[in-house]
Amino acid sequence: MKNKIKTVWSKRLKGKTSKSFQRIGSSINIDQRLYKQDIFASIIHTQMLMKQRIIPADKGKKIIQGLKKIKSLIDNGKFIFEEKYEDIHLNIEKKLFQIIGPAAGFMHTARSRNDQVVTDFKLWIKDSTQNIIKDISSTMKAIIKKAEKHSDTVMPGFTHLKNAQPISFAHYLLAYYEMLKRDKKRFENSLNLLDESPLGSAALSGTSYKIDRNYTAKKLGFKKPTNNSIDSVSDRDFAIDFLYAAAVCAMHLSRLAEDFIILNSDAYKLIEFNDSVLTGSSIMPQKKNPDPAELIRGRVGINYGKLNSILTIMKGLPMSYFKDLQDDKALVFDGYDTLRDSLTMSYELIDNLRVSKEKMSKMANQGFTTATDFADYLVKEKKLSFRESYHISSSLVNFAEKNNKTLDQITLKELKKFNKDLDKNVLKIFDVNFSMNSKNSYGGTSSNNVKKMIKKYKKEIK
Ligand code: ARG
Repeated sequence: MKNKIKTVWSKRLKGKTSKSFQRIGSSINIDQRLYKQDIFASIIHTQMLMKQRIIPADKGKKIIQGLKKIKSLIDNGKFIFEEKYEDIHLNIEKKLFQIIGPAAGFMHTARSRNDQVVTDFKLWIKDSTQNIIKDISSTMKAIIKKAEKHSDTVMPGFTHLKNAQPISFAHYLLAYYEMLKRDKKRFENSLNLLDESPLGSAALSGTSYKIDRNYTAKKLGFKKPTNNSIDSVSDRDFAIDFLYAAAVCAMHLSRLAEDFIILNSDAYKLIEFNDSVLTGSSIMPQKKNPDPAELIRGRVGINYGKLNSILTIMKGLPMSYFKDLQDDKALVFDGYDTLRDSLTMSYELIDNLRVSKEKMSKMANQGFTTATDFADYLVKEKKLSFRESYHISSSLVNFAEKNNKTLDQITLKELKKFNKDLDKNVLKIFDVNFSMNSKNSYGGTSSNNVKKMIKKYKKEIK
């Protein structure tokens, strides 16, 4: 052969690819992250071709040996990825030719890059979702560890960022445990939906070779083969599901980060962080800034962006494969890296967090946070309607505000002006710890409840 064949299609496309299109159209810098999955799927595909006697066994053996060699070259950083071969699939095929010669030409029988790429990508997402699930579990464990120390620590619970009712700091933290638990399930659910092997769908219509798709599906670790070859090569729902689950999880972490930023601010000073997760200022010597929390808060923007991008790429895309789909991988990889970093930072923030119990308790007592408890007391002990009690308690708050007192500073004599039947038993109502521990309805903030919940969580997360 005189002309050195450069691309697999250079017989048909005689003109040289433009330099700029080669750079823009190639995805090797991105999809080289699929090399393990690509080699694994090619080995299974080759084994199936041998088993079905579609290719000769000696050729198949050579292909598999060559693929293993390529894997170790890439593992050891000894593989040179080339832009001119476009993507990971063609880079590997090219290398296989260099290593084993013409036998390499048998590998791509009965498949296309269209089913190949989606198979690799699904396998990658399966593996990577397990890593994310592990990271989420670590963050959940960090929450439990911190919560265990604080079931009795009382803090102001907020609505509208205004002091609302006393709550346990552990109960507040465990709210995030529940969010993360749902995140984990969301990822698990998307794995369930993804679990069908597209391999064997070929370009879009299936193949006339007597392939065994059940065999490849099983060996690749999928539940079953996909039912429709056209859908198989054009479906990216699994990438969307992944990015959606990532976006929701990143949103939860962003809320946690924002809570931490507020509680750590100089206006609140309820929590502090160890220096390992803080930065200083280049000009203001006194500063200790919670940068990781700010990064987590902001980076949800990246996760939303990736989800939005893939949804937009898929909108109105006719059947079946188009090059538009190539950009799906950069989005998923970025979404994955961003979320893992945010999970790591969240874990470290929780681990390095210290609580100013005294300040928390003091603030929990500000803003008349036991006013609802007083109203509830009148309902239970004095048999008034809740609305009437609520009005009496409002008047008490007005009185306390006017006299610059917290509710627990009001004397029995003063209280009697609001309801003459009151006795000294009412006074405990205004204690923030008493208030917290009285909320013992299922899922409420009493330390007893919280301790029981922590026990349950510890069992389930093991
Ligand atoms: N690199 C391509 C992608 O990621 C592989 C599939 C190419 N198929 C094709 N018909 N050009 O989508």
